[in-house]
Amino acid sequence: MKNRISTTFNISLCKLGALSFLLSFTFIQIDAQEPLLQNVYNRPSTSLNGNWKYVIDPYDTGYRNHRNWTPFDEAESTKASAKPYYTDKVIEERWDRVEYNFNTSPEIIVPSDWNSQFEKLQYYEGAIWYRTTFDYAVYTNQLTFLYFGAANYQTDVYLNGEKVGQHLGGFDPFNFDITNKLKTKGNSLVVRVDNRREKHRVPNYTTDWWNYGGITREVKLVSVPKTHIQDYSLQLDKDNPNQIKGYVQVTSATSGQSVTIQIPEVKINKTFTTDANGRAEILIPAKKLKKWYPKRPKLYEVSLSSGSDTLKDQIGFRTITTEGANILLNGKSIFLRGISLHEENPIKVGRAKSMEDAKMLFGWAKELNCNFVRLAHYPHNENMPRLADKLGLLLWEEIPVYWGIDYENPTAFAQAKSQLETLVHRDKNRASVIVWSVANETPDLESRLIFLRKLKDIALAIDDTRFISAALERDEKSTANTVKIPDPFAEDVDILSCNEYIGWYSGLPSRCGEVTWDLPENKPFFVSEFGGGALYNHHGDKLTRWTEEYQEYLYEEQLNMLQKISTLRGMTPWILVDFRSPRRNLPLIQDGWNRKGLISENGFKKKAFHVLKAFYDEMEKKYDYTVKD
Ligand code: GCU
Repeated sequence: MKNRISTTFNISLCKLGALSFLLSFTFIQIDAQEPLLQNVYNRPSTSLNGNWKYVIDPYDTGYRNHRNWTPFDEAESTKASAKPYYTDKVIEERWDRVEYNFNTSPEIIVPSDWNSQFEKLQYYEGAIWYRTTFDYAVYTNQLTFLYFGAANYQTDVYLNGEKVGQHLGGFDPFNFDITNKLKTKGNSLVVRVDNRREKHRVPNYTTDWWNYGGITREVKLVSVPKTHIQDYSLQLDKDNPNQIKGYVQVTSATSGQSVTIQIPEVKINKTFTTDANGRAEILIPAKKLKKWYPKRPKLYEVSLSSGSDTLKDQIGFRTITTEGANILLNGKSIFLRGISLHEENPIKVGRAKSMEDAKMLFGWAKELNCNFVRLAHYPHNENMPRLADKLGLLLWEEIPVYWGIDYENPTAFAQAKSQLETLVHRDKNRASVIVWSVANETPDLESRLIFLRKLKDIALAIDDTRFISAALERDEKSTANTVKIPDPFAEDVDILSCNEYIGWYSGLPSRCGEVTWDLPENKPFFVSEFGGGALYNHHGDKLTRWTEEYQEYLYEEQLNMLQKISTLRGMTPWILVDFRSPRRNLPLIQDGWNRKGLISENGFKKKAFHVLKAFYDEMEKKYDYTVKD
């Protein structure tokens, strides 16, 4: 079929310039996306995953629908009024000049980062324009949302040539109401994603992980009744474990709308009514519920309905509290036998995204006899908390407020806030999640303390049933051989967590036996990172760095030191499996990999794996409990 350019393209560029100038006065802020739909995971949807077209755009030509020498204005270019140059036009006349064409462009898999798909994009940091087309049966009495599991980092979305919205954040889901932009045939979805590291972004310039860019998680269309269940929280009342407490939010604020909660297995069937804001407060007696435990991860089929909308979820019910230095799960003292991991499939070498990836990573954690996993350093895909609920793994979740964020910049705070709100909203009904962490190794500045305290309040305002924590810095210098955590944020957290690398960055493994820890007695202490590097199958004596023997010796000395700390209640050593990092370039040892994994990138266990496993077997016995409720 002869390619056609839509008639709009016949407007000369100067007219287009005038048009965009006029439009700029009619600019309507649509960059704020709709609130996240709760439990999209269980809603019927139409997947847009598959092979899309892509155009690489390192110089942002896709926005240059005006003079090329005009400085590129990111804020201007991403506004609703800025019609992108790269929309879905094709050639009509053989003399037309169009220097891109989605139809003849190469294909890219969605979802997947772009770095691991093409050798030429391995280190690419810039913009890429995606396009897919689809038909969609549009129903008048429904709203349709376009949902992204995540895209790293800035995402601008256009449907049928119109701006739908923009999202900032690399690891959190987002959705846009596209009801009024959809056609039944030939929809053209154009998505610009850029993964540049910018001062005002979260994270910003430097991280110790690969900056995988692109549409990294699923894309789907979700249709819901015009009046639908937009959000809800259902969990055991932290002050009374014999009842379920929560709320259900129905869209289009109407009072007196009925909301029914059913848990057939325990014969719960209760109806509530919404207030003037469309919100129903939930309180349900629930003495007969079997609690959720790592060793018995009981999930209930819960059905929520309101009007013509019915939504099912699989929810585990448990309480998590502290009592002095103890961590209590359903009132029983536990030890968090943990491990840290990145969202990366080391064998495929790319962002983990599927349930199969989740099963592989958690399978290794289970072999280590873990009951706890730290999902570092950003929100992971939703398969992780969903599978952890089923496997009986407790989780630490976090946002990438990592190292040197621009703490005095409101834009940076807005992005950290948005990512945290989305994470807490998405996972607040997951029994496995017990920690919201707001920072990792951040400098002791007044601006940073204010930044973190505001984030803590934001998380608690949405969900006050879980722990707040952060991987703080320890101080080993002020007093020789005494390790403290002088961080002022230490008083704000429920469990006192710090990263420490004694034996790797600080002295040799023998130094573990020389230090004493000076910690508060009335708070659980948790080591959010320790470890050291080893190349799998590289052997030597225990003081030869990078050998498996050195890593094994370091773990032995670390565990001997840590188990002497009376308030120690858990740890997530760094890290389950070797991972990609542009900062790790020691030839023949690292070659672009951080080698602190207990497992190699090919899935082989190093000697230190067995040292930690043996320790966890001991701790499982020491903190064993009987499940009766
Ligand atoms: C830090 C940081 C990690 C990093 C690790 C390391 O603690 O939190 O993201 O990978 O150290 O140096 O390997």
